[in-house]
Amino acid sequence: MRTETEHTIYLKDYAPSPYRITAVDLDFKITSETTRVQALLTVEPREDTAPGTPLVLDGDELSLSSIAIDGAPLMLSAYVADSNSLTITEPPLRRFVLETEVVLRPEGNTSLMGLYRSGGTWCTQCEPEGFRRITYYLDRPDNLAVFKARMTAPLELAPVLLANGNLVDKGEAGDGMHYAVWEDPFPKPAYLFALVAGDLGSITDSFTTASGRRVALAIYCAHGKEEQCLWAMDSLKRSMAWDERRFGREYDLDIFNIVAVSDFNFGAMENKGLNIFNDKLVFAQPETATDGDYEGIERVIAHEYFHNWTGNRITCRDWFQLCLKEGLTVYRDQEFTSDERSRAVKRISDVVTLRAAQFPEDGGPLAHPARPDQYREINNFYTATVYEKGAEIVRMLATLLGEAGFRKGMDLYFERHDGEATTIEAFLAVFAEANDIDLEQFKTWYLQAGTPRLVAEDSYDAASQTYTIKLKQETKPTPGQPTKQPLVLPIKFGLIGPNGSPMGWSGASGAEVRDEMIILDSAEAEVIFTGVANKPVLSLLRGFSAPVNLDTNLTQENRLFLAQHDSDPFNRWQSLQDVGMALALQAIGGKPWDDAAVKSLGGAFADTLASDTLDDAFKALALSLPAESQIARTIGRDVDPSRIHDVRDQLLAAVFGPLAMAMQDAYGRLDDDAPYAPDAASNGRRALRNKLLGLLVASKAPGAEALAAEQYAQARNMTDRLAALAAMAGAWTADAPALLADFRSRFAADPLVLDKWLAVTASVPGDGVIDRIQAVLAEPSFPKANPNRLRSLVATFAMSNPTQFARPDGAGFRFVADFVRDIDLINPQVAARVLTGFRIWPMLESGRREAAKSALSELQSGGTLSRNTADILTRMLAE
Ligand code: TRP
Ligand code: ZN
Repeated sequence: MRTETEHTIYLKDYAPSPYRITAVDLDFKITSETTRVQALLTVEPREDTAPGTPLVLDGDELSLSSIAIDGAPLMLSAYVADSNSLTITEPPLRRFVLETEVVLRPEGNTSLMGLYRSGGTWCTQCEPEGFRRITYYLDRPDNLAVFKARMTAPLELAPVLLANGNLVDKGEAGDGMHYAVWEDPFPKPAYLFALVAGDLGSITDSFTTASGRRVALAIYCAHGKEEQCLWAMDSLKRSMAWDERRFGREYDLDIFNIVAVSDFNFGAMENKGLNIFNDKLVFAQPETATDGDYEGIERVIAHEYFHNWTGNRITCRDWFQLCLKEGLTVYRDQEFTSDERSRAVKRISDVVTLRAAQFPEDGGPLAHPARPDQYREINNFYTATVYEKGAEIVRMLATLLGEAGFRKGMDLYFERHDGEATTIEAFLAVFAEANDIDLEQFKTWYLQAGTPRLVAEDSYDAASQTYTIKLKQETKPTPGQPTKQPLVLPIKFGLIGPNGSPMGWSGASGAEVRDEMIILDSAEAEVIFTGVANKPVLSLLRGFSAPVNLDTNLTQENRLFLAQHDSDPFNRWQSLQDVGMALALQAIGGKPWDDAAVKSLGGAFADTLASDTLDDAFKALALSLPAESQIARTIGRDVDPSRIHDVRDQLLAAVFGPLAMAMQDAYGRLDDDAPYAPDAASNGRRALRNKLLGLLVASKAPGAEALAAEQYAQARNMTDRLAALAAMAGAWTADAPALLADFRSRFAADPLVLDKWLAVTASVPGDGVIDRIQAVLAEPSFPKANPNRLRSLVATFAMSNPTQFARPDGAGFRFVADFVRDIDLINPQVAARVLTGFRIWPMLESGRREAAKSALSELQSGGTLSRNTADILTRMLAE
């Protein structure tokens, strides 16, 4: 494998293009075999462009069939065309129209980038660099143009013809063909272009904006699935209303369309006025979708809708700035969910995701800044760091500025940059200006990779009534960044008195302290509080106000006290996690746990369960031991996943075993026969009931398996049925294989439910799982090119089955590496994504580490890989 340094793209090399394309007029002639694309591009040289500067357009697997400028065909000597670019050697130094024609074969496009077919429907995916697979173009986000798209297609195969913006013409075209013309008045980068042609059903609705404009809404889907789109439509209308209320942002076109397709590389795409969705993030009905699916649909519908302002109206200057739209839009969708549901529960689940997905990335071989400064393959930077850490950075900004200050900055951002392609610097500048503060050091969050460790140690001096917190921050080196700067950490905190009530202080020094927040901007500080009447218990990093790993000198007693008394729900939850973590680490280290400590934790869980002030959704989250992956990360080196798994299982039985009666009681009381409703309260009730069932089964409580089998058989919705199945499969009870078989045949007709079966099958933590996965992959009817199926089966295995993926004999690593090699030929994005599962390898114990390394090295020496996969592999193996 070559290490293609020549392919590396650097932020420092950014330069505007010498030419701009201001208008695009596309003509698609779609037939069942080929699609002919004619493009009329209005091109203008920039003022300072020197005569004779060539115009270089991007292409990807294109072949040019004709070319002209202002209607006159070009001589062969006037241009150079290959599959990856089109160069006009000496374009006119004035405005001109470049006319090209290419012929595409969407049917054979398995990468799912550019124009492809999914279930017979023609559709496009252009972000980030897919438009160049449709026509030669300046495929970079800083070129904004108005687009017009004409489509001609067979009426029978494609009665529905959609593109961005407004429908301006349609009609018959003879020979069983028809046409439609769409125009988007808003200038946009090519990555936001979209087209759909197919035989689709739809549901329609409308939304009236705050200023009284009526927007026609539609969701298109495979015939027969219309009813399953109602929740998505409801979510869309609530998103539109929320963005007006919370950010003063109204929708800008008269039409907003969503299309659900079955073959899609990601979750969804925010194309202007024509969002395209992975159908798993649209379809929902109680029998086949879980509460998690409902919440996911609501969140992603909101996310893509919110991009209309943060991403589309204001876009990115270059792909290094991806976080400008993604981090900000994730922050916005998180706030939406928090406002629609429970803020505390949302915060805890987001932190769980951040720690499970982003922290391992930030602490492993693929670590990169939220705004990277180099890449070889931009598709590999749609990461948890860009999305989730990006959202955390925006959240810290909001914490530092307060709600009003943050809103002032956002207002200025929209006012100043609407219609532009801009940068992280411009984003930070509006907040600095609107709030008259300096954000220079804060910017380091975007530039520096790695998760900081924050160490806090407190002490109290009764004689002087002073209370001191010593704080230290440190970030370990990451690939390419050997030294690190101190970051600005907003550390929300509270001091809690012996009776559980908040304690005040008369003065604070040593760091900026305001709004119940310490702002640490140096490597170390000693914050001294005066006038503190008693020794307090410290509640630090409330609401997880900064994305760091926190170490404190709190005792187990302090933590159990906080679990009961902290007014901050996040820290109540965190305190229980910390107690569980300490016990797990102790046992993994070889020391038997102390029975009294196990009993106290059990008691705290029992109190949590019995509380009549905490809500069910919170309880469901709180009644947990830290996940295996979380324990592994905390240990950090020489990790043995099997030992973690076994010890955690034993600890679970020891802690929850004595609570079996109370749990079973509560389980019984949480039953009800109300029809399924997706609201937060019903969702919380089911979450708690299913959490209890899972704990009962996992801790081998008497009668638990029968209870699960009964719930499985009686379930009236997918949430309850899948929870029972997952509990039995996870514990691999005697009934588990039969239940899995039943589930598969019961839902054989629904591919999205098959995904759930695949994921449960791939998660079973015992021997035999690899054989079972391979058997499924070998079934002739298994759809080998569908990303949802492949991710459910293989990505789930690589990401969430550490005992089998990281088997000491290397069989799990070899299986995944072989899979990556095969699938790389079909869909490089899916292959590269699955390969990232290997990022845990450096922290494993030596035997497993060597096994992983040899599987990776073999993949590397085994022939040509896509740039996507080669990039991940090279970074994974670099040391
Ligand atoms: N912009 C999309 C989002 O965050 C992400 C996305 C959708 C994407 N499809 C893609 C990224 C294909 C890369 C490739 O909502
Ligand atoms: Zn997004």
